[in-house]
Amino acid sequence: MDSIKKYISEHKNRFLDELIDLLKMPSISADTAYTQDVIETASNVKEALLKAGCDISEICETDGYPIIYGEKIIDSELPTVLVYGHYDVQPADPINLWTSPPFEPVIKKTELHPDGAIFARGACDDKGQMYMHVKALEYMVKTNNLPCNVKFMIEGEEEVGSNNLSIFVANNKEKLANDIILISDTGMIANDVPSITTGLRGLSYVEVEVTGPNRDLHSGLYGGAVANPINILTKMIASLHDENNHITIPGFYDKVEELSKEERAEMAKAPFSIENYQKALDIDAVYGEEGYTTNERNSIRPTLDVNGIWGGYTGEGAKTVIASKAYAKISMRLVPNQDWQEITHLFKTHFENIAPKGVTVEVKPHHGGQGYVTPINTIGYQATSKAYETTFGKKPIPQRSGGSIPIVSLFEKELNSKTILMGFGLDSDAIHSPNEHFGVWNYLKGIETIPYFYKYYTELFKK
Ligand code: BES
Ligand code: MN
Ligand code: MN
Repeated sequence: MDSIKKYISEHKNRFLDELIDLLKMPSISADTAYTQDVIETASNVKEALLKAGCDISEICETDGYPIIYGEKIIDSELPTVLVYGHYDVQPADPINLWTSPPFEPVIKKTELHPDGAIFARGACDDKGQMYMHVKALEYMVKTNNLPCNVKFMIEGEEEVGSNNLSIFVANNKEKLANDIILISDTGMIANDVPSITTGLRGLSYVEVEVTGPNRDLHSGLYGGAVANPINILTKMIASLHDENNHITIPGFYDKVEELSKEERAEMAKAPFSIENYQKALDIDAVYGEEGYTTNERNSIRPTLDVNGIWGGYTGEGAKTVIASKAYAKISMRLVPNQDWQEITHLFKTHFENIAPKGVTVEVKPHHGGQGYVTPINTIGYQATSKAYETTFGKKPIPQRSGGSIPIVSLFEKELNSKTILMGFGLDSDAIHSPNEHFGVWNYLKGIETIPYFYKYYTELFKK
């Protein structure tokens, strides 16, 4: 396995070029204007798996975008690793804030990425991280270092809720049977502070619509005499947090898992600088739930955030008007034991209850998913930890993340296997934001680390 470093240095330019070709494809799953591009991206991934050494690589059609399934089975006695990732990306807007076009990848140096980072939508989330697995497989197959069986399942609808993947998984349990699931779609603390993600938050996403009068009204003739849906909506939203930034929805916290003092103390050991955090975001203070640290607020605590709000006149100049309707999109990040459907229901009931007379409220649930916590007393975690220690020269820290990959809890339910979250991105890589990027060092470090996971996992499995 000493050959991995050599293999990477010999093939590094091609590894980058291939990823850059993939990043040029605007596979935005949320926007139907890109349907053809998403489908072409699926073909690219299928071909890449074949070239890397899969014996089977196929496009599995769904009611939405296709899922790529690939495999290389070498011996049924050996363990099987299932790699999951996604080839779809978030929309790139606001386009004018990108310093280079989102689908014309370029490598630029940054403070945290002195070796350069690839700037493109999807560079980190998740094309770059998914492709590390394809290249790690290439290395293992070409140099006879693949120690076990491997399956790939790469979907094109992660950013829009993975609805068709859920169906695919439920219908293909045999095909997807595995001993462990491996995903690189999260982050780590810093390049010199390796960490393994041990938790993901759940999610409930809803849209609300407040309707007042049956038409837009003159704000002079009617102002003050009827409920203004925008005034009402903002008031209702404001009431969802109290003065301590606790969420006011009755029952919201009932099932929240409280961490012990010891667990919180362990978490607090992870290096973190509030000054750097504030500086990176140009804010003069952090903000959040009373009684919890920043790292707790964004990982082990549930939240409620407005993601978008609109209504009325927003064009140039002024128009004196009371809009008939106001809207908002709201997400709630959930922690283990909170059930997303139950929370959605609690939200809906509460939001309808607090609406004053004079308006009607409609709550439309979008999508959601359960949170996830990975146990660390498994051979999967041990193998991952050892792999990081080998390539980073440091033992990785377990860290719970604030993001969500709803399909992970479904994997556990349907396929009965645990997931290892091996992320190589940094929080500052601007996923979902303008100027998303992925460090070249991180990309290559991922390719280097993954084969060690296979090696150690297979060794521990045989014991
Ligand atoms: N890869 C992210 C999730 C993520 C990023 C988890 C960083 C942990 C650290 C994923 O693609 C994502 O964006 N998930 C969505 C949820 C999904 C249902 C749209 C999210 O977290 O908002
Ligand atoms: Mn992702
Ligand atoms: Mn994402």
